[in-house]
Amino acid sequence: MIDLSEIKNFLLCETPDSWVDNALQHPALMLLDHANCEKKAASTAIHLMYRYVSDFELLNKMSRLAREELRHFEQVIAIMEKRGVPYEQITASRYAAELRKPVRTHEPGRLIDTLIVGAIIEARSCERFAKLAPHLDDELQGFYLSLLKSEARHFKDYLTLAQKFAGGESIQERVDEFLALERDLVVAGDSEFRFHSGPIEEGAG
Ligand SMILES: [Fe+2]
Ligand SMILES: [Fe+2]
Repeated sequence: MIDLSEIKNFLLCETPDSWVDNALQHPALMLLDHANCEKKAASTAIHLMYRYVSDFELLNKMSRLAREELRHFEQVIAIMEKRGVPYEQITASRYAAELRKPVRTHEPGRLIDTLIVGAIIEARSCERFAKLAPHLDDELQGFYLSLLKSEARHFKDYLTLAQKFAGGESIQERVDEFLALERDLVVAGDSEFRFHSGPIEEGAG
C-alpha cells in the first residue's frame, strides 16, 4: 500500500464513515458512477489538451493521464459486465459542478483554478478508494488499491502544473479556498449517492 499521508494532509477532512455505509448499500451505483468518474477524468484532460496547446509538459501529462483514466474506465466496465451491472445514464453529482463554480474566467486564473480543482478531485478519489478498499470483496479491493498509485500521481501532476502556470506566485491561498469548499461538499448531506457525494440525508434517495 502506498503512503497516502500527503493526500490526507492536503484534504481538509476524511470521507465520513456514513458515506462508506452508503457506498456499501449501493454497490451497483458505486461502480456505475465510478465508471463515469473515470470517463469524465479522461475527458477533462483531453479538453485541456485542446484548450492549451502551447505547453508540452501540460500536453504530455494530460495525454498520459487521459490514457490511464480510460484504462481505469475499461477496468471498471469489465467488472460491471462480469457482475451484471447495467450501464445506464445517471445524473452527475453536485460535487464537480460546485467545485468548478469559483473557477476564474480570465487567464491564467482559469487554467490555474481548473488544475487546482483537478488536483482536489484526484486527491479525494484516491482517499475514497483507500477508505472503501478494506470493506470490499477481494477482486474490487485489489482493483481499488491498484488505482491509488496512479490517482496519487495525477494529484501531483495537476498541482505541479497549477504551480507552474502561476509563475512565481503562490497558489496556496487559492488552493485553500477550493479545499474549504470541497470539505463542505464532502461533509454536507446529499440527496443521491454518487462516488463524490456527501453522505445521504435521512429520507432522501
Ligand atoms: Fe482514474
Ligand atoms: Fe486520476
